[in-house]
Amino acid sequence: MHTSDKPQTLFDIDPANLEFYRDVIMGLRGSPRQISSKYFYDQRGSELFDAICELDEYYPTRTELGIMERHAKEMADALGEGCMLIELGSGSSLKTRILLEHLADPKVYMPVDISREHLSKTVRDLTSEYEGVEIVPICADFGKDFVIPTSTTPTQRRVIYFPGSTIGNFEWAEAESLLGRIASWVGPGGGLLIGFDTCADRAKLEAAYNDRLGITAAFNLNLLEHMNRELGGDFQLAGFRHRAVYEEAERRMVMWLDSQHDQEVTIAGETFKFDEGESIHTEYSHKYDLATFCKTARRAGLTLSKAWTDTNGLFAVALFMVES
Ligand code: AVJ
Repeated sequence: MHTSDKPQTLFDIDPANLEFYRDVIMGLRGSPRQISSKYFYDQRGSELFDAICELDEYYPTRTELGIMERHAKEMADALGEGCMLIELGSGSSLKTRILLEHLADPKVYMPVDISREHLSKTVRDLTSEYEGVEIVPICADFGKDFVIPTSTTPTQRRVIYFPGSTIGNFEWAEAESLLGRIASWVGPGGGLLIGFDTCADRAKLEAAYNDRLGITAAFNLNLLEHMNRELGGDFQLAGFRHRAVYEEAERRMVMWLDSQHDQEVTIAGETFKFDEGESIHTEYSHKYDLATFCKTARRAGLTLSKAWTDTNGLFAVALFMVES
């Protein structure tokens, strides 16, 4: 099969997409139906996310950037000299640059991303600029276990940088186990610098995920396009509608795709029936208060050193350490 051909059966699916296929089939067979938000980020999805970050309503990106610009020096001082910096989900490298710029003699920068294209762009962008830094890209799903390769370059401490409130996509139990794996990856004396959303204002949150230009809707619907292309699905994008609501008790935004009428969708030979009004869950985006977040981190072996916030209390960047 040519890779440009749309898969017709299970046998046509690119081996690299078998896990995507399995997750989608299991997610659509279940009730409620669900697809992991990690599958938003194909080429188009990443572009749409970048466009979301520019929206008036979407406050997190620019708020976090503001915190980084203001406090990077202090963060870098706390991390110390000669770090190995491991970044989870190396989207755009803007925040990373701010950090690298302030760090004293960083030795290794290791971006970890599920997308090869993202990684090669990051490497291309950073290699020439940071000549003294060894750049080691890792193509992996950090939601699962992966091995951090041993670098021959000696480093003082391992630090994981996990910006963008990506942690918010994980449910609490998974977030705690990811934090536990982070603690074991960096080891005693290692650190975690993590950014997370702390907004609790329903109107502000619902506006941020239901923007007037409809970019978030396009981002959500693009998931169907991604499945159509890679898995040979025949989702009609016009047959589904974006919905995002704030669940106050759970402190999270939830995104859905609602079927607009009774319809059938076939993916690699398997047919799924959707009733009118039936929904596919596509994303959680948890919001946190610092104390609750710290309690969970503590159970995972991470102790708070210091947290930086904006004046409106919308976002936090916090440094945790593993006791040595
Ligand atoms: C990249 C996961 C932090 O949850 O706010 C933006 C993704 N979803 N608009 C978020 C997203 C809808 C974003 N994260």
